[in-house]
Parts: sequence; structure tokens; C-alpha cells
Amino acid sequence: MNAFQLRGGTIHCEEAPLPQIAAAVGTPVYVYSEGAMRSQARALLRALSPLDGPLVAYAVKANPNGAVLRTLAAEGLGADVVSGGEYRRARWAGIAPDKIVFSGVGKTAEEMVLALEGGLYQFNLESLPEAELLSEIAVSMGRIAPVAIRLNPDVEAGTHAKISTGAAHNKFGIPIADAPAACARIASLPGLRLNGLAVHIGSQLASLAPLEAAFGKLGAMIGRLRGEGHDIRTADLGGGLGISYDPAQPAPPTIADYCAMVVRVTRGWDARLIFEPGRLIVGDAGVLLTEVIRVKPGLGQPFVVLDAAMNDLVRPSLYDAWHGIDAVRPTGKRMIADVVGPVCETGDTFAVEREMDAVEAGDLVVIRTAGAYAATMGSTYNSRPHAAEVLVDGSDWALIRARREAEGFLEDERLPHWMTTAD
Ligand code: LLP
Repeated sequence: MNAFQLRGGTIHCEEAPLPQIAAAVGTPVYVYSEGAMRSQARALLRALSPLDGPLVAYAVKANPNGAVLRTLAAEGLGADVVSGGEYRRARWAGIAPDKIVFSGVGKTAEEMVLALEGGLYQFNLESLPEAELLSEIAVSMGRIAPVAIRLNPDVEAGTHAKISTGAAHNKFGIPIADAPAACARIASLPGLRLNGLAVHIGSQLASLAPLEAAFGKLGAMIGRLRGEGHDIRTADLGGGLGISYDPAQPAPPTIADYCAMVVRVTRGWDARLIFEPGRLIVGDAGVLLTEVIRVKPGLGQPFVVLDAAMNDLVRPSLYDAWHGIDAVRPTGKRMIADVVGPVCETGDTFAVEREMDAVEAGDLVVIRTAGAYAATMGSTYNSRPHAAEVLVDGSDWALIRARREAEGFLEDERLPHWMTTAD
């Protein structure tokens, strides 16, 4: 479902014209289609239906907005959380504890207590010191913590280095060769119950081959550990399936391809499968709606200066990510331009030498595929306000996060006692 289409010469989100939202809320603003998220969640659940009761735990980090979480909770998704903040959001959104997986390489004692008190399906452990601390805490609370071990399968994900997580030198997981000894130790800890194994090798994967390689290693390890007497019941296959950002690039594997591979590779495992998709569910359901401040002549092509910047959407600066950029009311004329934000860094660049709709000052533009890892990675760098967020349902829409105006920033700050406000 492409929720952002031209209707009568103007891009709409579902049936809501984007200029109407910009006029009411201002720009930059993230606009999300509820229908697009719902349809991705449903497509995934449908494609996984040959499996016996899988748990689809949406990776909250991709887009943690409360209204987004409520939408996905209503579709039956659980949550993969990596902080106390994400755990609280998931519970607030009505996600049942038995649908929450707690991942992350640096869980703190406070986070362990929070999740043990509130309940969860399992912690995905990343090291033995973490296992020991969790056991101690669980014992002190009179609880047993359900856990899985995240394996580092030593598989190159073939994605951007900053979002690859399954190679031996990455910080994530327990080296696969150490897994049998780690399981033996974990089984001996009084506060833990070993549920199963987990892998997550990276994000925005463009091929199924590395996923299949990692799942194969996980499957072999399940057999080995069962042979050593461990009761392995769950296998968490993580997230990572890529989505299409640039239509000129080969399309990533579809949900159907991915699920067919999973069904084939996991046949006979006799374990409950867990999935942690993030980008796949929300990535294509959002755009960043922004206004052209001015078009500035350049040495070669002009600079299109937007009112959105790297503080609103950092993916191009951080990962050289390509995002589609289109005029909300295209005239049919085209131009070649560098598309930039107002922040004082050359890295504040959304696109270089991009062939795009011709635009001028005051025109609205969308930066596409901005539903995942976009608003949530925003900052207030250059003392810029946090962008607002809007959710659309048909022709109806609502503000789901108010713009955090720069006037409020100083309210959070304090002068040290040796300065006086009178200075
Ligand atoms: N599970 C774990 C343990 C993860 O670390 C992640 C993502 C996911 C699931 C969800 O992965 P997904 O299905 O969304 O690929 N900020 C980067 C992406 C970082 C991904 C971090 N971990 C970006 O903008 O591309």
C-alpha cells in the first residue's frame, strides 16, 4: 500500500491533503498513515500463519510514538523493547507483558527490576555478567526471569556497517562458539529459566542469504543444546528485513519471500518463533513534510534549502541513506539540486545532485519512507524545535506529538548557583 499518492495534483496521505496538515500544524511535520502500518502488520501476520503461534514483537525503537504503538497493539503485535522507557511505552499502549521481549546490550539493574515487576515474555541476554546480575535481582525479588541467549552468529549482514550487528567483532550477543558453556552456566543460575535462543544480525537487509545463514546456525545450536539437556522452546529470529527506499535499486525481498524462507529453514525446530520487525512495519508509512525556505544558487546545481534538517531526519547524514524527495504539488517541471537543511554542517544534506520536481521558496516537499528511525532519532541540535507528528486515518487526522518549540528549551536548563539570573 502506498499511502502517499497524488490526487488531483496534490500528494495526499490516504485521503488527507498534505497542504491542509502543513497549514494547520506547520512544518516540518512527520505524517503517518495508520492504514499503511495496519496493512503491513496484517500482511506479516498472514504470511506467518503457517507457523504455530508465532510472537511478532514490534521493535519499538523504529517508531515509539504512543499512537503508533496503540495502532500496532490493536493489530495484535507485541513489543521488542531495549530500555525502561520503551518498556513503559509498550505497557502504556496496552501491550500485554507476555508479548514483550527485552533486548539490548546494556540493560541496567533498574530496567531489570522494572520488567520483572511488570512482567515480560523474556529477556534476550547478551553476556554472562548480565545473566548473573539478572539472576541475583530475580532471586532477591522472589522471581524467576525467563531468558533467551542472543547468539552472535558471525554472519556479515551485507548492510551499512553502522547497522550490522551479527559479525564476530560487533558488540552484540554471545559468540556462538561460547553458547554451550553460557547455557550451562545460565541453567545453573537460580533466578533464571532458559527459554531459548535469539539472533539479530542487522537492519535494512537487502538479501535473505545472511538471514538464512544465521537462522541455520541457530537451528543447529538448538539441536546441540537439546542434546545437552536444555529445554529450548523459543527461537527469536530478530528483525532486519529491508524496505525499498530508492525505486532505482533492486527491490528487497518481500514479506512472502522472507516468510517462505523462515518456514522452510525452521521446519522441525519445534520451537515458538519470535520476530522483531521494526522498519518493515512502519518505514513506508511515514513522510517528513517540509517547506522550501529558499532556493540558493550554487557553483553548479542550486541548493534547495528546506525547513527540515539533519536534526529532524539524520539517516542521510549518518548512513548516507537515500530518501525519495518530491514536491507536494508538482508542476511537471524538473530540476537538479542539492537538497539541504539549515543546520550549520555540510553533512546536513538530504540529497546531492538529485533530479527532482522543480520547487521554489514556499513550496511543500515530502521526504519519503520516513516512518522508521526518523522522528525518534531527532534532536534539537542548533536549538531547533522537535518536529511535530500527525497520524492520518482516511480523511481524518490528528496531532500525535506537538512540536516542541525552542522557546521551551531554556525551561529544562538551570543556572549554576554561582551565576545569577540578573546577569
Ligand atoms: N531487534 C533488535 C535486537 C534490533 O537491534 C533491531 C534494530 C530490530 C530488532 C529491528 O530491526 P529492523 O526490523 O527495524 O531492521 N537507525 C538505523 C537502524 C537501527 C536498527 C537498530 N536495531 C536506521 O535508521 O537505519
